[in-house]
Amino acid sequence: MRKHNGFLVSFEGIDQCGKSTQVERLTKRLEMRKIDFEVYREPGSTTISEQVRRILLSSENKLMEARCELMLYSAARAQLVAEKIIPALKNGSFVILDRYYHSTTAYQGFARGLPIDLIERINREVSQGYAPDIVFIIDILPEEAIHRRDETGRDRLEQSSLEFFNRVRKGYLKMAETDPNLIIVDGRMSPDEIEKQVWGIITEKAVEFIR
Ligand SMILES: Nc1ncnc2c1ncn2[C@@H]1O[C@H](COP(=O)(O)OP(=O)(O)O)[C@@H](O)[C@H]1O
Ligand SMILES: [Mg+2]
Repeated sequence: MRKHNGFLVSFEGIDQCGKSTQVERLTKRLEMRKIDFEVYREPGSTTISEQVRRILLSSENKLMEARCELMLYSAARAQLVAEKIIPALKNGSFVILDRYYHSTTAYQGFARGLPIDLIERINREVSQGYAPDIVFIIDILPEEAIHRRDETGRDRLEQSSLEFFNRVRKGYLKMAETDPNLIIVDGRMSPDEIEKQVWGIITEKAVEFIR
């Protein structure tokens, strides 16, 4: 049952798949139509969550254990959900997320091997049941992602292996098999083509917002 009359969209996929590019493009479309929106990136977007983000992405913390990572991402998200996402949705806003809890299932679950049922329980608790209306999974091969990578300023996650990203990718594809709200977008298309496809789906599903 819906707990609000807002709309929640998240963008998912492996590093460099094009999430931030599409978040930006979607905000432009909404601006053009004078539709109010909120946009948050994970981990981060609150004072507390940004502090946790620094710990997660610091190159000093390469030894971080998977359970520690799970708890920190979840901690950052718990704060974002309570402080920003729930109030925005209750206020009827259109909310865009650059990653949400499906990232945790894909990365800490499918890729790092922590139990999926445990992660899903944590996800439900941390999100307080506020599930996205649409999850766009931008799907590209890790080989392609690495090709796109900027050689400077890599963060800790980006230094991980091809094999790791393959597990992340497979995890996303697996989740999409059982949840119709998860939509796989072919990330090999141009940014323009992806933008068009994303917008088409949003106008179909968020009819209350986009007239
Ligand atoms: N559809 C696309 N095709 C080719 N390159 C892309 C596409 N979308 C984004 N890029 C490029 O790939 C890199 C990563 O994009 P970005 O949106 O930052 O990915 P993410 O936020 O998923 O890590 C950037 O250099 C961006 O310009
Ligand atoms: Mg990004």
